[in-house]
Amino acid sequence: MAPFAPSKILIIGGTGTIGRYITASILRAKPPFPQVTLFTSANTATTKTAQLDKWKSEGLSVIVGDITSASDVAAAYKGVDTVISAVGRGGLHVQLELLRLAEESDSVKWFLPSEFGTDIEHNDKSANEKPHQLKLKVRKYIRENIKKLNVTYVVTGPYFDMWVETNAKEAGGFNPETKEAYLIDDGEGKIGFCTMWDVGKFVVATLRHPEESFGKALKVQSFVVTPNQVLAEYEKQTGVKWKVEKFPLDRTEAVEAKWWEEGNPKATGVTLRRIWAEGGTLYEKNDNEVLGLGPEDLDSLKVAVKRRLVTDWRSETF
Ligand SMILES: NC(=O)c1ccc[n+]([C@@H]2O[C@H](COP(=O)([O-])OP(=O)(O)OC[C@H]3O[C@@H](n4cnc5c(N)ncnc54)[C@H](OP(=O)(O)O)[C@@H]3O)[C@@H](O)[C@H]2O)c1
Repeated sequence: MAPFAPSKILIIGGTGTIGRYITASILRAKPPFPQVTLFTSANTATTKTAQLDKWKSEGLSVIVGDITSASDVAAAYKGVDTVISAVGRGGLHVQLELLRLAEESDSVKWFLPSEFGTDIEHNDKSANEKPHQLKLKVRKYIRENIKKLNVTYVVTGPYFDMWVETNAKEAGGFNPETKEAYLIDDGEGKIGFCTMWDVGKFVVATLRHPEESFGKALKVQSFVVTPNQVLAEYEKQTGVKWKVEKFPLDRTEAVEAKWWEEGNPKATGVTLRRIWAEGGTLYEKNDNEVLGLGPEDLDSLKVAVKRRLVTDWRSETF
């Protein structure tokens, strides 16, 4: 029997923040995947028409449905061999049912749940981190209930494009308008990043390497750098010295605790930034090579900073 190669792909959540990069990258992959379908909500189908029309002209099929409807999802799974979920945090719990239906389906062989972020099983503290709870629940459900389906988690660490923004000075970030940088501790803590376009590239590379990817949490990274190196690159590209403010990690933790207590939705972001600053993205070796991608295939810090100075992930066109 020929080895499995994904040919009929269904993307759920493919119009979202990271889903757009994944959908665009899969659609434009060379050689192309024979069938790429997006499952999207009625709301998105009526609000993001220009984007959907563009993708349709590039070969995307679109199914409009409700991800909480078993009959809609089962119908969308018909004939599909690979499902990629990029649903947002608000939809992570819905994936238990998406997985149950995929396990029941006659055709689905491979499922990539919505991860595309922090390593949720990095160390002893990971099990108790608030933002990880729903993703951990999905992994537990898979361990206990999924027997037939192959599953792969694509663990990308922070998106550089978003990480450079500040959601609290005490949690780090960069402001190209005012030329200000906010660093945690001495700015020497290394962080492994993916650019958002490289997330798309890594997902395509995963699809090209089924056997190596089945049953794994793949740790992938565009580059590993310190915040001081990011600052130096910004200064080089803008041609001026930036104003720098430094905050000890316990100031980050104080904002984190306060925001969780107040129910501030930005608390999730601060917790993740604290985890990244503490070394939560560092490995002896990542899985880039497993997927056949080397530094020459991926964005560099220089490219990522340059892109961030001329564009914004919110306004990128796909
Ligand atoms: N590493 C990082 O720095 C980073 C940053 C952001 C996100 N992430 C991760 O990336 C994954 C996707 O997050 P995202 O921010 O890209 O997602 P998002 O933009 O919030 O949502 C993605 C899509 O999911 C679909 N969806 C359906 N039901 C939903 C529900 N109940 N709640 C939310 N979305 C629903 C929607 O698509 P339709 O309307 O087309 O159905 C939506 O556009 C998550 O696992 C998240 O943790 C990582």
